[in-house]
Amino acid sequence: MPVRIALIGTGAVGKGILKALSEKDLGIVLTGVADSRSGDIRGEGIVPSDLLKRKKETGLCGDPSLHAQDVVQNAPYDILVEVSPTDATTGEPATGYIRTALSRGCHVVTSNKGPVALHYHELKQEADNAGVSLRFEATVAGAIPILHTLGESLGGNTIKALYGVLNGTCNYILTRMAEEGLSYKQALDEARTLGYAEADPTYDVKGIDAAIKLVILANTVLNRRISLDDIDITGIDLLTEEAIRLAEEQDATIRLIGEIIPEKNLYRLSPRIIPRYHPLVVQGSLNVIIVRTDLAGDLVFSGKGAGSLETASAVLGDILSIRDRYAGGN
Ligand code: HSE
Repeated sequence: MPVRIALIGTGAVGKGILKALSEKDLGIVLTGVADSRSGDIRGEGIVPSDLLKRKKETGLCGDPSLHAQDVVQNAPYDILVEVSPTDATTGEPATGYIRTALSRGCHVVTSNKGPVALHYHELKQEADNAGVSLRFEATVAGAIPILHTLGESLGGNTIKALYGVLNGTCNYILTRMAEEGLSYKQALDEARTLGYAEADPTYDVKGIDAAIKLVILANTVLNRRISLDDIDITGIDLLTEEAIRLAEEQDATIRLIGEIIPEKNLYRLSPRIIPRYHPLVVQGSLNVIIVRTDLAGDLVFSGKGAGSLETASAVLGDILSIRDRYAGGN
């Protein structure tokens, strides 16, 4: 039986989902869609390729009189797929959409970091009360299934430490500056064009995006209750081309590294000089996470941390996992 979704957000992630749905039959029917300026509801299903075409030609996904909240409130769906841009200060309007969907007894899958970083414990409680799932694999490290792996596959372990490159945009910028001698601005422009950067790229370069991912990791799979204020954050926006060149001369390079050491309550994000062949030195938009555990030892996970189809991969995995868990719909 197909699962019905309503999609909120048709930016890089939303388009990736629509592209995947238009190319593969995954048993997912789109019954509602909204962007920041329009919406559409069709119980019989919206054809993803038609929607992509309409968006490209008109810049809209549907009727300008239909707001995202109308779609969330009224479309017939099993899972709300919320992939609008992150607001790290309020988490809105996405948090409101998620709450509406949960109160309707619908599952939620999101790539939006704001609601999860700011309100995870309350939203999880609301989902539990409603007997539905709230999943957000795409919020951390793009295509890498790190939340699932830490929360389920490594569930019997104590996490001693976690180190990672968690922002594809910064990693892309640092790679291009070191390898091609691009200026910071040129490299950032490229990252934006490639769809890696946030709608507001200062979130990336000032370290906010990667720090939010540390908050999500800590609060969701490491059983902590922290906020952005608990993280010591330094971004790459003030890093000079000279600093990168000096590191390269010492057979090293600079990467923006996130670090969690739970037993010391240590949460830090900062640019570090790393030997060139260290596993934390990944290239371009890749992310990497090294996890130190008591039972499984050290594990390294690497993959694309940003990008349209790569992030869509994580969203689709969450949708299909909910469908399989609640086979028959809710
Ligand atoms: N802007 C983010 C990044 C997108 O560059 O990593 C994925 O969260």
